[in-house]
Amino acid sequence: MDKLVIQGGRRLSGSVTASGSKNSSLPIIAATLLTGNGTFVLNNIPDLQDIKTFTQLLNHLGAETRFAGNTMEISTSNVKNVQAPYELVKKMRASIYVLGPMLARFGTARVSLPGGCAFGPRPIDLHLMAMEKLGAKITIETGYIDATAEGGKLRGAHIDFPISSVGATGNALMAAVLAEGTTTIGNAAMEPEIETLSLFLNAMGADIRGIGTTELEIHGVDTLKATEFDNIFDRIEAGTLLAAAAITGGEVTVNGVIPEQLKSVLKKFVQAGCSVQTTGNSVTLKSPETLIPTDVTAKPYPSFPTDMQAQWIALMTRAKGTSHITDKIYHERFNHIPELNRLGAHIEIRKNQAVVHGPRSLSGTKVMSTDLRASASLVLAGLVAEGTTEVLRVYHLDRGYEKIEAKLQSLGADIRREQYKEFE
Ligand code: UD1
Repeated sequence: MDKLVIQGGRRLSGSVTASGSKNSSLPIIAATLLTGNGTFVLNNIPDLQDIKTFTQLLNHLGAETRFAGNTMEISTSNVKNVQAPYELVKKMRASIYVLGPMLARFGTARVSLPGGCAFGPRPIDLHLMAMEKLGAKITIETGYIDATAEGGKLRGAHIDFPISSVGATGNALMAAVLAEGTTTIGNAAMEPEIETLSLFLNAMGADIRGIGTTELEIHGVDTLKATEFDNIFDRIEAGTLLAAAAITGGEVTVNGVIPEQLKSVLKKFVQAGCSVQTTGNSVTLKSPETLIPTDVTAKPYPSFPTDMQAQWIALMTRAKGTSHITDKIYHERFNHIPELNRLGAHIEIRKNQAVVHGPRSLSGTKVMSTDLRASASLVLAGLVAEGTTEVLRVYHLDRGYEKIEAKLQSLGADIRREQYKEFE
């Protein structure tokens, strides 16, 4: 297994370019299942374990894929198999994204139920509700979802989500684009990744209106075709790199971003005392002498993202005073806190809120990654901890951060990857 070994105390400076977004790549790759008409060329796809896992699933279904230099070519002309098996789905919950497109194109799909995850139960009821509204008959037996469109074709419907869900909105969109008639989606997620998926689907020939809002209207079309598409940057990776600058007292420019998509996070950096400057496609952050404590609530976009909550907690361990960080999306997403406390932080958990008492001097030790963003928070803490921090099980981090140690090294961090045996 790999671990990251960090010598803390280096102030980061310089500039770095953000990678392509993982969370928009996944639905875009799933959406290629909607048509066998041509070969897709997807640019700015990050080279990540999650992308590899998802590609394996597509290949299993019969797709042909090629990946080189962050460009992925996909043809799904030969897809005949509509079964997504447990062995592949269990590796990544986002595998549920194949349900909508397969059902829309083939009128039937069989997808293993994804399991739980490290931060609490993550149901898929809203995905299934959307498919049923569109006319699918769904049964769940022996751990598999069997979905069949009545008459072989989905029908437009009104889908009103009781809570905002990125995944369910994406799945509903992919199912609705080939459905007969008009579909409306109320309380749709409006995360940039959903906006990007919508633009991609329209580039394939779909007719989606209201893009970037919570009310989407989809006019079903008969056919779609493959297209070339440029993926957006990863706003969470960019936010994490800015947090690395802030926690080390540094000054860093992250290029290749759309600052508007980082607005809620940048606002909090400013409240924390950082100076933030943006251009059309870059953000420069300069850390203050002393960080100011901030209260943050993670909620659906455009509010502060839950995927930045763990990193923000790490940052606030260095702020002078008490910060409250509440997660209204995942109430139990706090696996990083005991590990941050092992590094010397003083953080309490009160229901879905972390109370961070700062500033604390952190000191390096061995810590364990438990999930993707938790790992990122431990790396941030390691960058300022005195002595050596070893972040174990970095395979979690590798799911979502492309070349993270190379990027941090280029900014002056002392971080290296080493192999180890789990119980050495
Ligand atoms: C996506 C992101 C993830 C991010 C999350 C919230 C991907 C691959 N992952 O996950 O990084 O943390 O959005 O921004 O894009 N819910 C239900 N029933 C459902 C679906 C969701 O109750 O059928 C609940 C969830 O438990 C959660 C909330 O809805 O409380 C939001 O989850 P959702 O937006 O669906 O998250 P994902 O799409 O799984």
